[in-house]
Formats: sequence, structure tokens, C-alpha cells
Amino acid sequence: MARLRVGVLISGRGSNLQALIQACGDPAYPAEIALAISNRTEAPGLGFAAAAGIPAAVITQGDRHAFAAEAQARLLDEQVSLVCLAGFMRVLDADFVASWRDRMINIHPSLLPSFRGLHAQRQALTAGVRFAGCTVHFVRPELDSGPIIGQAVVAVHPQDDEQSLTARILAAEHRLYPLVLRLIAEGRVRISGERVEIDSDRVPDISALNPQDGPSELLATKPG
Ligand code: GRF
Repeated sequence: MARLRVGVLISGRGSNLQALIQACGDPAYPAEIALAISNRTEAPGLGFAAAAGIPAAVITQGDRHAFAAEAQARLLDEQVSLVCLAGFMRVLDADFVASWRDRMINIHPSLLPSFRGLHAQRQALTAGVRFAGCTVHFVRPELDSGPIIGQAVVAVHPQDDEQSLTARILAAEHRLYPLVLRLIAEGRVRISGERVEIDSDRVPDISALNPQDGPSELLATKPG
């Protein structure tokens, strides 16, 4: 079966891009990265694309519409079917978001709908929550909003600072994003009334993939 062609948009470090590239390195994985796009020339994540021989585009237009037009052209050139935002730090043009509705996903370092926006981990520490985590969701025009596909939970430790909590969440992100992409590529994800249903006898538990990293689990559930 043809693999789902994915475009990944980044702005910086690109560790989630790298996690997706690694997952796609398995010939049995049902998706492939067709294109990486960065809005910053110096984004370190571009190195991961280069090392994997993945086409990359650097699009630095300051104007939102110009950026969207160029990105759209490149994504269509590469016959991309799904866009993954991975640390992409620009607000996207509304028409671009609309044109990728239900075909664009994002990862955010909180258990949405809590702690949208910047410094989600700091917001979690300030709020004193005992559990934090990350979310992969379909993109809607409002910031960090849209139907939730998967979440992973990590414990907040009493001695945590922003750096330690961020690192624990990031490790969970690197397991969750490839898992969610696999579910989508397998055609097992459906949106119904702005809620996601996952067609699976058993939704995989990401803690089983990497249990030494402590408590974390996929919170998506099989519909009734
Ligand atoms: C991640 O924490 C992601 O959840 C957030 O931005 C960060 C990107 O990290 N949206 P990286 O560039 O993938 O390393």
C-alpha cells in the first residue's frame, strides 16, 4: 500500500521532525516525510532533513500570505496529503489553515485544552498541576485548538523546574507523534462532531513502547 506523504513544518530544533523521520525509517511504517519546510534559515532541524535526504524548503517571507502561497506550492509539488506542525512558530494564514482542514495536525506540550500558547510547561508548573503532558490535535484557526487525537501524560515531580519538566514532556512527544501519525496513515482516525474517533480494537499504549521513561499513556479511546 502507498505510504501517506507528509509535509513537516518546523521553526527550530526539529526533534519531533527527527522522531517522525526515525519512525518513517521502518519500511513497515505507513507514512513517509516528503518535504520539510522551515520558516527560519538557521533552524537546526533542517540538518535532520538533510541527513535523511528529505527535500527541504526554507520559506522566510515575512508576509503571512506570501509564506502560505509558497508553502502551498511546495506541498502540492511534493504531493503531500498531510501536514504536521512540529515546533512551527508562525501564525498561519487562515486560507491555508482552511485548505488543510482535517489534514493538518500539531503537537503541543500540554494536556489541551489546558495551557495553550507559549511556555505551556511553565504555565503547568505555575498552576501546580500534578500531571502534565502533550497533545496531538487537528489544527483549527484558533491557537492550539482542534479535535484531540492523542495525548500522553507525564508526572510532575515536586523538584521539577521548567527545564526538567520540558525534557520529560519532550520524551513523551517523541513517542506520541509517530504513534498518532501511524494511526492516521492507517486510516483509523475519524472526526465526528469535532471529536476524534479511533478505529482500533486496542489503541496502543505508548508507555509500552518505552516503559523506562515513567508514567505516560495514550488517552485516546475506542468509541463506545
Ligand atoms: C515541542 O515542545 C512542541 O510540542 C512545541 O514546540 C516544541 C518543538 O520542539 N510545539 P522540536 O523543534 O520538535 O524539538
